[in-house]
Amino acid sequence: MKIVTVSLLVLIMVFCAASLTLAAGWDTCKACHTDSGKIAPSKADLTKKFKTTEELIKAAKETKNPMMTNFKGDDLLKEAAKDLGLK
Ligand code: HEC
Repeated sequence: MKIVTVSLLVLIMVFCAASLTLAAGWDTCKACHTDSGKIAPSKADLTKKFKTTEELIKAAKETKNPMMTNFKGDDLLKEAAKDLGLK
């Protein structure tokens, strides 16, 4: 029984990891940066505050919030900025 539980957990983890790498751009951020602005600022809030890709990337890297730790890759942030319509 224990083995089944563990393998199920492993399967779920692999699945999550795979979907994380598959989802690109702003889709990766939406889980936290929801439209209601809960947990993290919404798309509208971010585009109001940041006008360029550079500004957004800088802010994303500077934030001290541990939830952002895995989302500081240049490529990831650039894709997301593009989806947000930033230049
Ligand atoms: C696991 C949840 C989570 C994910 C996924 C996530 N973020 Fe965040 N993000 C946060 C939290 C929490 C903050 C801090 C909000 C605050 O300080 O009010 C934050 C802050 C930011 C900030 C700084 C906002 C500011 O006003 O300084 C930027 C920019 C940002 N995120 C961009 C992104 C981008 C782009 C992605 C996708 C590549 C992303 N985030 C993915 C949770 C997340």
